[in-house]
Amino acid sequence: MEIIIISGSNRKLSQSERVSKIIEKIIKDQLNINSYIFSLYSNKLPLWNEEGYGSDEENIINLKKNFSQSKGFIFVVPEWHGMVPPHVKNLILLLGTKPFWHKPALIVTISSSNGGAYPAMELRGSSQKNSHINWIPEQVIIRDVKNWIPVNTDEVYHRLVTSIKVLNIYTNQLEDVREQLSDLEIKDFGM
Ligand SMILES: Cc1cc2nc3c(=O)[nH]c(=O)nc-3n(C[C@H](O)[C@H](O)[C@H](O)COP(=O)(O)O)c2cc1C
Repeated sequence: MEIIIISGSNRKLSQSERVSKIIEKIIKDQLNINSYIFSLYSNKLPLWNEEGYGSDEENIINLKKNFSQSKGFIFVVPEWHGMVPPHVKNLILLLGTKPFWHKPALIVTISSSNGGAYPAMELRGSSQKNSHINWIPEQVIIRDVKNWIPVNTDEVYHRLVTSIKVLNIYTNQLEDVREQLSDLEIKDFGM
């Protein structure tokens, strides 16, 4: 699997899911590569803990395996209380280091009003230290998301398509980077 799109809402019929489907279609139509949506609504994940996951143990193993096989990520994240929703942070904690190790990821934030900047800044500021995820410089903020229609003449749609194409270039190039990094002793627990 080339790219996983993380739909970052645990609400039913969420805007994150709608935007994720739009992204999946752009990838299919314009890049012709494999992608799929990992929804935090349909995948109910346990909270990270140190004592094991009981009946969810196998799910967590498969989650790590599937994310490790992916070469790039698109996070579709709603702004809640001016923050990244906790289940998105929980996913990053559960996955740990290997699945995201020096892989590129695109941030797409959404808001039903004028928000969206806070979760973008939060992800950039606090989530890469141990995951070693590589947030690419492009990012997309979709405001007034409930009324947003993805048409060619729309500026945000144009930015979204371009940013996905940028991510794809990083996805291809960072494979080489990871290969070269393998000789270095990089600590999982970053500074
Ligand atoms: C608990 C909660 C808190 C929210 N807080 C904010 C906020 O701080 N800023 C904002 O712009 N929108 C906020 N919203 C509105 C969301 O931007 C809007 O509901 C968006 O569609 C949520 O994405 P979803 O449909 O994918 O869940 C909040 C929504 C929820 C449910």
